[in-house]
Amino acid sequence: AQSPPCVLVIFGGGGDLTKRLLIPALYNLACARLLNERFSVVVVDWADNSTENLRAQFDDTMRQFVTQRRAVASQLQEEEWAWLRSRITFLRGSFEDPDTYKALDAVCGQMNCVFYLAVAARFFAPIVLQLDASGLSRETEWSYRRVVVEKPFGSDISSARALNTQLRSVLDESQIYRIDHYLGKETVQNILALRFSNGFFEPLWNRQNIDHVQITAAETVGVEKRGRFYENTGALRDMVPNHIMQLLAMVAMEAPTSFDADAVRDEKSKVLAAVHQLSAQDLVRGQYTAGSIAGRAMKGYREEPDVAPDSHTETFAAMKLSIDNWRWAGVPFFVRTGKRLATRKTEIAVHFKQAPYALFRDTPVEKLTPNIMVLQIQPSEGVTMQFSAKVPGPTVKLGGVRMKFDYNDWFQEGPSTGYETLIYDCLIGDATLFQRADNVEAGWKVVQPALDAWGAGEGELCFYPAGKAGPDAADELLARRKRHWLRLI
Ligand code: BG6
Repeated sequence: AQSPPCVLVIFGGGGDLTKRLLIPALYNLACARLLNERFSVVVVDWADNSTENLRAQFDDTMRQFVTQRRAVASQLQEEEWAWLRSRITFLRGSFEDPDTYKALDAVCGQMNCVFYLAVAARFFAPIVLQLDASGLSRETEWSYRRVVVEKPFGSDISSARALNTQLRSVLDESQIYRIDHYLGKETVQNILALRFSNGFFEPLWNRQNIDHVQITAAETVGVEKRGRFYENTGALRDMVPNHIMQLLAMVAMEAPTSFDADAVRDEKSKVLAAVHQLSAQDLVRGQYTAGSIAGRAMKGYREEPDVAPDSHTETFAAMKLSIDNWRWAGVPFFVRTGKRLATRKTEIAVHFKQAPYALFRDTPVEKLTPNIMVLQIQPSEGVTMQFSAKVPGPTVKLGGVRMKFDYNDWFQEGPSTGYETLIYDCLIGDATLFQRADNVEAGWKVVQPALDAWGAGEGELCFYPAGKAGPDAADELLARRKRHWLRLI
């Protein structure tokens, strides 16, 4: 169904997120006829620009680089683009100047409004306070007012709590939409569909049958132009309390009683609250040195722009997490994430327990092919199951085989940036895929002891050459527990 009439106000709309993701996502929604005739976009930015100029800039990005990322179809549908383009206007103003909000008020009137904060985190609170002071955030019987916040949501537990307190001092929780872009990914949403709309996975989904779970979020990119941001962030903060915790929650949560936003988020909260806080012996911290990926030479992290030559920021983190509840007691969840690794791959591998004894004399239990179900998030999208089968022939010999479901074989997926569902859900008021305050804080709580220890200078930094699977210490983390990571390539 079409979304209701709405003004989408993008603060910081001159930035990359707007060009690369938000505008293409809106265009895809327009192509799918999901936007209302009375939908419009106001881009607020302090930079010197004009509506005409901004529209021309979006013309360029829509035609060039977004098409290379499967974000929009390779041929721009001119009519739909013209429809959206004509609804975009520019408003120049500082985020801290009350006049900006007066001008906005004149545009917004009595309409539904979504205020999208595509800005550096230091502006979140000032903008929201101004929205409150100007009355713009006040909902009425006939119009909603919602605020979308992008990550980073705090840099540790106390700053995340402080930000939640600030936002909630002027907004109701139901008005706040905290984005974790991983939840916009089809394959992440599919985890719940797979588990809870089929009869055969869930009975096995527990400590009786699962030996351990591996979550991998490997990237080949380095820090790109974000050295300054990354230096104060590092892999742990950048990926774990947010994206990884969301993946873990999807895999480990109990079935909600409905797909209602709060029912789902309650279950996520419960499982995240049961995750042990990270301790130093369960954690590996790595940083890439010079190396090569796919034959291309790569600089080391310390040689990247805006990075200190003796930087101790980690570009890789691996850890063992445990969940203290009836379903998962004793089942380790191993996580690894890093930049400049051998390949780009995000996946969750559920390792099942072996058959209890060796019926096939020639193949002892430990030689049986491990039973693994891999939920592939990106770049391949699908599910693979690995198990043993008899090798054809007169003697009984077992071999490992794979059964594979690939999205492309079954579904004709439209182009997507991953933001379509998130924006649409916000327009229609479905907060299921957004993080509630308690979800965000639960993620930070898990990593906080590790952040404290590292902050106090503890924790050895292990190096790995670009193009490898991470430092050796990450392998040892599993080897100590008689397990090993799935190969990255
Ligand atoms: C972002 C991080 O949140 O997620 C980046 O700040 C990271 O450092 C990115 O590269 C990964 O997202 P994706 O969708 O490419 O897996």
